[in-house]
Amino acid sequence: MQAEELTAKFGIADVLDFVETEHGLVRANISLDGMAGELYLQGAQVTAWQPPGERPVLFASPNAVFAPGKAIRGGIPIIFPWFGPNRYAAAAPQHGFARTATWHLDGVESSGSASLTLTLSLGDNDVGSQFWPEPFRAIYSVTFARTLSLRLAVQNSSTHAITFEEALHSYFAVSDITAVAISGLARTTYIDKTQAGRRERQPAALVTVGAETDRVYLDTPARCVIEDGGWRRRVVVEKNGAASTVVWNPWAEKGAGMADLGDPAWRGMVCVEAGNVADNEVRLAAGGEHEMSTAISVEDGQ
Ligand code: BG6
Repeated sequence: MQAEELTAKFGIADVLDFVETEHGLVRANISLDGMAGELYLQGAQVTAWQPPGERPVLFASPNAVFAPGKAIRGGIPIIFPWFGPNRYAAAAPQHGFARTATWHLDGVESSGSASLTLTLSLGDNDVGSQFWPEPFRAIYSVTFARTLSLRLAVQNSSTHAITFEEALHSYFAVSDITAVAISGLARTTYIDKTQAGRRERQPAALVTVGAETDRVYLDTPARCVIEDGGWRRRVVVEKNGAASTVVWNPWAEKGAGMADLGDPAWRGMVCVEAGNVADNEVRLAAGGEHEMSTAISVEDGQ
């Protein structure tokens, strides 16, 4: 459906409308009592969420590319059904197909000026992937409110068990990467992707970033808090059904070398991703459904 039709079907005056970008992507613009949000149908990707009186919570790269089939650098890309490079096929797209596929908008629900929920879906017919040819349906609902709530359900429509990885690859805007400390990961084990996948024990209570950091923390269902000393705020990420946490910042050399990120933009972001990755991948029985959700909120900090 095109932007105009979507606005006619789902639009709410002064709250929700749809626009088409110059390269033909459709974006929902949400405005609720001082709160602003954005979501692209490509990837069902939330690219902005700003509660009233707060700075933007999500990072969107100033050099992001908004074009059909290109992953958008920022916001919350959905990683599914594999994380990183595909283990079995080098030619498969990094992080799966969900972030570059166009999702269907199935419904919009509003509760006055308090919240707005968009529900989107994607199925095997929409993607026809040779790399993961499983019958599935993914249903994603996003509630824009004072808390940003995201729920991803995956249904196995086949007659056999399926296995997949998934993550909500959340990019958070920070005052400066060196001013940030992440709690919630103490005494856990992580896979260090900067060290050929070596497994390490997280020694300190707080994770700080002072070099390229690319870690998959296993068995970490607890909430994470991103403490930002520069902006004196705490971003709280609650999780349900998500056993892994990925922490990523490419740091100077890689960040500057990424055409859709660049220097100094890499300093203003940290990814803290809730998901089920590596040892925590999901095995879902025939006919089964798996659900993961996160809720992101902002508190004043020290
Ligand atoms: C992270 C991965 O989740 O995403 C990193 O752990 C990767 O290894 C990063 O570099 C960005 O991936 P992409 O495909 O969006 O450039």
